[in-house]
Amino acid sequence: MVDLLLGLQWGDEGKGKIVDVLTKEYDIIARFQGGPNAGHTLEFDGIKHVLHTIPSGIFHKNAINIVGNGVVIDPVIFKKELDNLGKFNIDFVSKLLISRKAHLILPTHRLLDAASEASKGKAKIGSTLKGIGPTYMDKTGRNGMRVGDLEFDDWKTKYRALADKHEAMIDFYDVEIEYNLAELEAEFCIGVEALKKLTFIDSEEYIFKAQAEGKKILAEGAQGSLLDIDFGTYPYVTSSNTTAAGACTGLGVAPNKIERVLGIFKAYTTRVGSGPFPTELFDEDGATMGRVGNEFGATTGRPRRCGWLDLVALKYAVQINGVTELMMMKADVLSGFKTIKVCTAYDYKGEKIQHLPYNIESEYVTPVYTEMKGWAKDLTKLTKAEELPPALNDYISFLEEQLQVPIKIVSVGPDRLQTIHR
Ligand code: GDP
Ligand code: IMO
Ligand code: MG
Repeated sequence: MVDLLLGLQWGDEGKGKIVDVLTKEYDIIARFQGGPNAGHTLEFDGIKHVLHTIPSGIFHKNAINIVGNGVVIDPVIFKKELDNLGKFNIDFVSKLLISRKAHLILPTHRLLDAASEASKGKAKIGSTLKGIGPTYMDKTGRNGMRVGDLEFDDWKTKYRALADKHEAMIDFYDVEIEYNLAELEAEFCIGVEALKKLTFIDSEEYIFKAQAEGKKILAEGAQGSLLDIDFGTYPYVTSSNTTAAGACTGLGVAPNKIERVLGIFKAYTTRVGSGPFPTELFDEDGATMGRVGNEFGATTGRPRRCGWLDLVALKYAVQINGVTELMMMKADVLSGFKTIKVCTAYDYKGEKIQHLPYNIESEYVTPVYTEMKGWAKDLTKLTKAEELPPALNDYISFLEEQLQVPIKIVSVGPDRLQTIHR
């Protein structure tokens, strides 16, 4: 049995926190796509942890964590993550397994990412510059290096050929990028040695067996549906399928083996990086969300753009993923707003529509809002659904009715314990 957990907006919905909360119910937590562009935050016992590549179940003794074939791994960042876990005495050698088919991010992939962004000028994607796009390009172009290659003595020959090609490509961009490749390569080799201490597996085989034995598996998504390479706000997206289908290709899970699809969304909307965002606020309300919600990227530290909840976009994400239950995050951040707005339709070239059109840039789309009463109550100490203020219950009921999917968790703070089950 495999359940999926996915972000339904532009990432940073709180996936890390909820995976950590739910891990006690699962035997295996498996990441299926993305790479260290992700930053998944967990908080418990007064300590905040940020994971980039490692699944968010790693802090629980019971669970095996798998980095699946659909993930791209940067050995340099991976080593730093392992070093951090080491400080908390986490036994990652026995609990963390890596797919041989996962692709490797080379230092030159990161440089290519920087060169590509620099060449785009104002039209840049706002990439995290972790080399994600160039690595997936080499994967689909059938030129990539995989974790399994590291088990062969000639991996450095393969590495050299690919890195040399990348250097020629960097020259092609004709932009100023300063780097010392020898230093970057030395760091890469140290990362590779750290990675090689872990167990490499044929993860699809491992997952078939686990399913046959009746184990419970949770597939952890990265980024969000609106950053999906096919269904997101292209070209301002990431380079993988962040939606439900990505779990099938990123782990080798058959579609008919997926049971629950858990969709995570914030009670409002944020986006980091460039690209259209119809409900974005440039006023005091947006600034308040950013300040109260501490909206800064977990990977890059960039401030996140903030705005009201966009139900048109959320409905689209629910449909594409086949979401069976919802989790609403950061409800506490909306406490104190007199009025809460929800975008229920777009005014698209003078016509009112309720689906996501090809272009959602502000010159085509103006959000149409429904206004709801806000609540003043501080939610951060609440533990039971019965304690939620009536205006928040109205907000939840309205969203459930619009989306036709139940909201099973309301999150009221970053800590593991600030989680209300309904
Ligand atoms: P992810 O990428 O989806 O795992 O999300 P991030 O970790 O990038 O961003 C979510 C941020 O919100 C983190 O700083 C979390 O600690 C924090 N967070 C998660 N849930 C809540 C919540 O219910 N309330 C508040 N105030 N913060 C939360
Ligand atoms: P998590 O898993 C939010 C955004 C970047 C940029 C675009 C492309 O923490 O939710 P990339 O580095 O993939 O080439 O960047 O995607 N982005 C994210 N935004 N959360 C993430 O991950 C993101 N990963 C990438 O900001 O706009
Ligand atoms: Mg994040």
